[in-house]
Amino acid sequence: MGLTGNTILITGGASGIGFAFAERFIKKGNKVIAVGRREEKLAEAKEMLPELHTKVCDVSKEEERIELVEWAVNEFPDLNLLVNNAGIQQRVNLQNAAHDWSYYQKELAINIEGPIHLSMLLIPHLKKQKRAGIMNITSGLAIQPGVWVPIYSATKAAMHSFTLTLRHQLADTNIEIVEVIPPAVNTDLGGVGLHTFGAPLDDFADTIFEGLKKEQLEVGYGGTEERLSAPRKEIQQGIKMAWQNFQKNNPDFMK
Ligand SMILES: NC(=O)c1ccc[n+]([C@@H]2O[C@H](COP(=O)([O-])OP(=O)(O)OC[C@H]3O[C@@H](n4cnc5c(N)ncnc54)[C@H](OP(=O)(O)O)[C@@H]3O)[C@@H](O)[C@H]2O)c1
Repeated sequence: MGLTGNTILITGGASGIGFAFAERFIKKGNKVIAVGRREEKLAEAKEMLPELHTKVCDVSKEEERIELVEWAVNEFPDLNLLVNNAGIQQRVNLQNAAHDWSYYQKELAINIEGPIHLSMLLIPHLKKQKRAGIMNITSGLAIQPGVWVPIYSATKAAMHSFTLTLRHQLADTNIEIVEVIPPAVNTDLGGVGLHTFGAPLDDFADTIFEGLKKEQLEVGYGGTEERLSAPRKEIQQGIKMAWQNFQKNNPDFMK
């Protein structure tokens, strides 16, 4: 859909992958609106990127999603790209569910309910634009689940599925559907310091933008997109090895 001249709403745009994308989109001549729950984080992002527009919104809440879309469409009638990026990741021992359901439900609401509802709210507006798009940030764990993050992996598999469906249902419209499939990337996902082993954020974001420039619809890093066509045996082996490795580094996890 072209990497310049767009008006883009990025959920979770004040930090991590969302911010790295916001920086690059602004540099390429796009208008960007960053959305997040923490006002101070949005203000910090705006200090670093003065052209950035910001809006406080918790995408896990239905009424806030509706209010966000009404506000965005009014303030930015040329809004033509939704980037469903906001997400959280929680480690969960399924044998010892120590929290109330609301703790686990939050991951579903942010990672899957939010993006599905925002997409549905915005499709009628996007259809009125000359060119438009929805970009979903899924994960390599959508295809090869991380056993230690079971709800997270399930939400990402669901988002991958939803993305495929969107592409078919909107095939006759102006709305292009893009899936970004990150591997582990060094951000604060899951808590500060938990992803320092991941790919460097700037290298990851630059590589994704190279893929977007080439108009790839499924864009990965370090081969994550190749997992989409990997044999089942290879995926099963990958799940097992990653889980063994996690348990070696976190021997108390299943206690
Ligand atoms: N980093 C990785 O290893 C990795 C790998 C695969 C996929 N991903 C995906 O990439 C996306 C971005 O993650 P990240 O790594 O950049 O993590 P991050 O640094 O923790 O950023 C997540 C962003 O989402 C926002 N957010 C979280 N809950 C929200 C809510 N309820 N409403 C609005 N905004 C919310 C956060 O802002 P507030 O807290 O202020 O709301 C934050 O700006 C996620 O979908 C994640 O699953 C990341």
